[in-house]
Amino acid sequence: PTCTGNPDLGECGEEQGSGVEMAEQSLLNKLIRHSLVHSSNQVEVLQRDPSSPLYSVKSFEELRQRKPELLKGVYQMGFNRPSRIQENALPLMMAQPWRAQNLIAQSQSGTGKTAAFCLAMLGIVNPADKWPQCLCIAPTYELALQIGQVLEQMGRFCADVRLVYAVRGNRIVRGTKVQEQIVVGTPGTVYDWCAKQKVLDPKKITMFVLDEADVMISMQGHRDQSIRIQSRLLPKGCQMLFFSATFEDSVWEFAERIIPEPNYIRLKREEETLDNIRQFYIMCGSKEEKFSALCNLYGCLTIAQTIVFCQTRRMASWLAESMTREGHQVGVLSGEMTVEQRAAVIERYREGKEKVLVTTNVCSRGIDVEQVTLVVNFDLPVDLKGRADNDTYLHRIGRSGRFGKRGFAVNLVDSQRSMDIIRQIEAHFDRKIRKLDLEELDDLEELD
Ligand SMILES: Nc1ncnc2c1ncn2[C@@H]1O[C@H](COP(=O)(O)OP(=O)(O)OP(=O)(O)O)[C@@H](O)[C@H]1O
Ligand SMILES: [Mg+2]
Repeated sequence: PTCTGNPDLGECGEEQGSGVEMAEQSLLNKLIRHSLVHSSNQVEVLQRDPSSPLYSVKSFEELRQRKPELLKGVYQMGFNRPSRIQENALPLMMAQPWRAQNLIAQSQSGTGKTAAFCLAMLGIVNPADKWPQCLCIAPTYELALQIGQVLEQMGRFCADVRLVYAVRGNRIVRGTKVQEQIVVGTPGTVYDWCAKQKVLDPKKITMFVLDEADVMISMQGHRDQSIRIQSRLLPKGCQMLFFSATFEDSVWEFAERIIPEPNYIRLKREEETLDNIRQFYIMCGSKEEKFSALCNLYGCLTIAQTIVFCQTRRMASWLAESMTREGHQVGVLSGEMTVEQRAAVIERYREGKEKVLVTTNVCSRGIDVEQVTLVVNFDLPVDLKGRADNDTYLHRIGRSGRFGKRGFAVNLVDSQRSMDIIRQIEAHFDRKIRKLDLEELDDLEELD
């Protein structure tokens, strides 16, 4: 299946925080990610029945409800063993003898949540029964397709297990009933199929999954529609599973509202730190001078991958054009690009086809900076009042503790005001930002 982007996206930044932006960001993450995100934090588990033993599995074979053809699919995907969150979530979701255990699970993007419930769904369906047994809802058409692709890959040796997409545009002939065992869709279409068109009979669904809950509640109507599906359509005793990459209070309230008597699994995001980062600033007089400082930097960085942050989209395109004119290969991310275009630029960058990526803050949130050796703040991050935006600074250049490699950050300073901001950032993190003279530049790589 192919995915389509939203061509109506406005100026980069305007749509920040909106549901569409969150859904696109989540999709972008998946399009560019190739592997599991590791975490060294401990999984927190809160069991509803504290007297029952706490199971965790270190291998997929240990799962008691197993189908050899399913394991074959899992191994063919390159999964050798369960991820951190899967170690605890899988035995809970697939308890044997089967007992519907509800679950609220939270862990950062890329830690294996979707793979976990896909395995549970495929493990639980009975291929001989030709009716819907598992239902999964996601915020958008594209995100539903992503989940479906995982199911198709993982379940490719599970003969007779079928999947249907309950998404806009996919029609079922009136009067007939969905026979596929697994349904993946968006809340609106799922509700429509069940309650209005009556082509989907939810009465025998034994597993209900709500994925991307944080995105779900940010989208108008999805929250209520999800609650309606859960409370009006699903049978009593149906297992309910809830997944989110973040846990703000609003997600929490939604979770407690929709999941009765839940177990909790939580894996905290690894904190970003500046510990492994050497930070510098370069004094410049104007944006042209900043540009030549950047070109000098570029000249002495042959192996490094660099990301350059600008405050506005206009500045980013000016800079990218100027650098291209100088003969440098640069990629640029900007707000009017579709998700696929953005994913393609990031992909080329990750493959090393372009060593430099020029971007604004909003457009670059899907990028995994662990790969990046040098971050240049062409413009320093400031909040609406013009003060240092420390969180953004940390997010741009910080690495997560144990897995983070050594990195460099260079800040280009063009006024007393931006020098003040450097001082504020230094004070906030209690880390020195050293002045870098252009003569020293040759040594930068030696510092690594
Ligand atoms: N046990 C595993 N071993 C190796 N790779 C895995 C494992 N589980 C998942 N992956 C891979 O890790 C990546 C992230 O997994 P997944 O999409 O399930 O994470 P997620 O937590 O659902 O992320 P998001 O919050 O972005 O939806 C995928 O490329 C997936 O194929
Ligand atoms: Mg997921």
